[in-house]
Amino acid sequence: MNHNEALDRITFLRNTLETHNYHYYTLSEPIISDFDFDKLMKELEKLEGEFPEFADPHSPTQRVGNDINQEFYQLEHKYPMLSLGNTYNEGELGDFDARVKKTLDEPFEYVCELKYDGTSINLTYENGRLKHAITRGDGTKGDDVTANVKTIRSIPLTLFGEGFPAFFEIRGEIIMPHSVFKKLNEEKIQHGEQPFANPRNAASGTLKIQNSSLVARRKLDCFLYYIVGEGLPTSSHFQNLEIARKWGFKVPSYLKRCSSIEDVYEFIKYWNVERKNLPFDIDGIVVKVDSLVQQRKLGFTSKTPRWAISYKFQAEQAETRLLSVDFQVGRTGAVTPVANLEPVQLAGTTVKRASLHNADQIVLLDVRLNDMVFVEKAGEIIPQIIGVNIANRNLNSQPLKFIEYCPECNTPLIRTQGEVAFYCPNDNGCPPQITGKIEHFISRAAMNINAGEATAELLYRNRLVNKVSDLYQLTKQQLLSLDRFAEKSAENLIKSIEESKQVPFPRVLFALGIRFVGETVAKKLAAHFKSIDSLIDASTEELIEAEEIGERIAQSIMAYFSDEKNRQILEDLRAAGIQLVVKENAESRISDKLTGLSIIISGNFERYSREEMKHLIELHGGRNISSISPKTDYLLAGDKIGPSKLDKARKLNIPIINENDFIKMIE
Ligand code: IVH
Repeated sequence: MNHNEALDRITFLRNTLETHNYHYYTLSEPIISDFDFDKLMKELEKLEGEFPEFADPHSPTQRVGNDINQEFYQLEHKYPMLSLGNTYNEGELGDFDARVKKTLDEPFEYVCELKYDGTSINLTYENGRLKHAITRGDGTKGDDVTANVKTIRSIPLTLFGEGFPAFFEIRGEIIMPHSVFKKLNEEKIQHGEQPFANPRNAASGTLKIQNSSLVARRKLDCFLYYIVGEGLPTSSHFQNLEIARKWGFKVPSYLKRCSSIEDVYEFIKYWNVERKNLPFDIDGIVVKVDSLVQQRKLGFTSKTPRWAISYKFQAEQAETRLLSVDFQVGRTGAVTPVANLEPVQLAGTTVKRASLHNADQIVLLDVRLNDMVFVEKAGEIIPQIIGVNIANRNLNSQPLKFIEYCPECNTPLIRTQGEVAFYCPNDNGCPPQITGKIEHFISRAAMNINAGEATAELLYRNRLVNKVSDLYQLTKQQLLSLDRFAEKSAENLIKSIEESKQVPFPRVLFALGIRFVGETVAKKLAAHFKSIDSLIDASTEELIEAEEIGERIAQSIMAYFSDEKNRQILEDLRAAGIQLVVKENAESRISDKLTGLSIIISGNFERYSREEMKHLIELHGGRNISSISPKTDYLLAGDKIGPSKLDKARKLNIPIINENDFIKMIE
């Protein structure tokens, strides 16, 4: 290939590859396969290698960046980069509309756009070629990040079509899509690095990397929203953006022309909901007067245009200072770190405290006292700390240490393998665990005793209730000795405690506050075991047989019942008359023929399944138990019964009956 042929081919390949870049990255409508694209790119790389005299910094081969560490130089913006005034509600936006109407005093239109949440960029083009990409900086000058920006494939290095001014600037927002952000943070965590707090930080952090080949790998994107210069194609902002799209710029199609402020409100209402479905972050809406002539008439204040304004959605994330960390002990003994923050406005409320979850989270975020932290309130009621602004960190700061002793009772904390939380094991002696247990016991979903957190604390502080069963020993006189109680309120509490004796067994089981035994698990356990005694007798294997009960729950139940103090509480509750058995519906009871009898079933039966047998025992007033003990009355043996069970029954002199014997008993 001679010189001229090479130049022709190189020019052809460059144009073709840029067109494909445009279809792929800007329009998201690729017209050739990745394979064919790579083939053309390889051919161009090869030719550029063979004919270095045709090197061009705008060649698509340059988009992969290079490894040369470069410092950024500052460049002045030809036109200052102003920011926008903010509004937060319809009233403030209405004021903006009134000011525009008053100044213009003629018909006008607005263009509504999304406010992309990234970092702003100013691109200058000379004779259709990208000259500089400059960050906003202080508004008058910023960093020259051209080498990095060239790696963003949706930014045209050479423009298509015609009609563009010889020199112009176009401004936009460099963003990191959610999918890229997620992957990047996963990689960072894997490498033990600090993840980015949000896509905005990730985008601006990436743009400042002094190695463009690393930037190229991060897959940033850029949305354009404002052309500045002389000799623009039309005097409508909206139409100019449409035309810029044809030149190759990524102008998103989310913009809308609105002829009244009411239409603007509609646009805001729509995007306030729909933004959750976008593949990138936006933090508001930008409203601009469409006509450039009218824009000029409205002019600028020293900092912001009078022809545009932003409407900010209620922030779900904010940055504030971490002042201190409290360690709270919950009902189950789990220790939760809670951050005290410099108060900050977030989604309509002032936030002063936020959860730090657990020790792992503290290590992962490497959060330190006095750090500037990011707080998020995304769906959750309790705000969370989700990241640290490392750039603002005090150099002398030290990693935050998780406590080793319970802040309430000084017991050394423990951590079970495979669990994230540290626990205080002193469950019957640690004050917040005791009051927590009492509060849980009396709560509406549990025993529904008419008292709240404050009463639970008061009773505990006055040594009247140290454990849940003490509630049933309370007297009216004792209550009257406390300041908070008067004749009527004391009577009401005693009455409510009395009524709780009718609360059905599944709720009693839930009320005990056994770790991992929530409302649903309690119901399943009660349905399977029918009484507290069968549950106490059950082995881990038998527990796991019940629906939805796994190893973790089974172990927690075993641990609870093996504690002598808990057994005593249960005996006290039994003595008080609490429901510790599932009450069979009187109508469903067929007879009392088996009342008082504990029967164990094992093996297979002809007429009934094991479940049916079990049900029959209960329908006739008996108790089906799962493990053999001297208290067992009968072993109901079917086919294929295990020899060990038979042996044990014989040793304990327990009568062994078969299916027919059983049927005769209940007939
Ligand atoms: S127009 C003179 N349009 O918001 C007007 N800005 O708070 C220039 N932004 O610095 C801005 N989306 O980084 C405009 N559709 C949009 C925007 C947008 C995001 C950012 C931009 C600017 C900041 C102003």
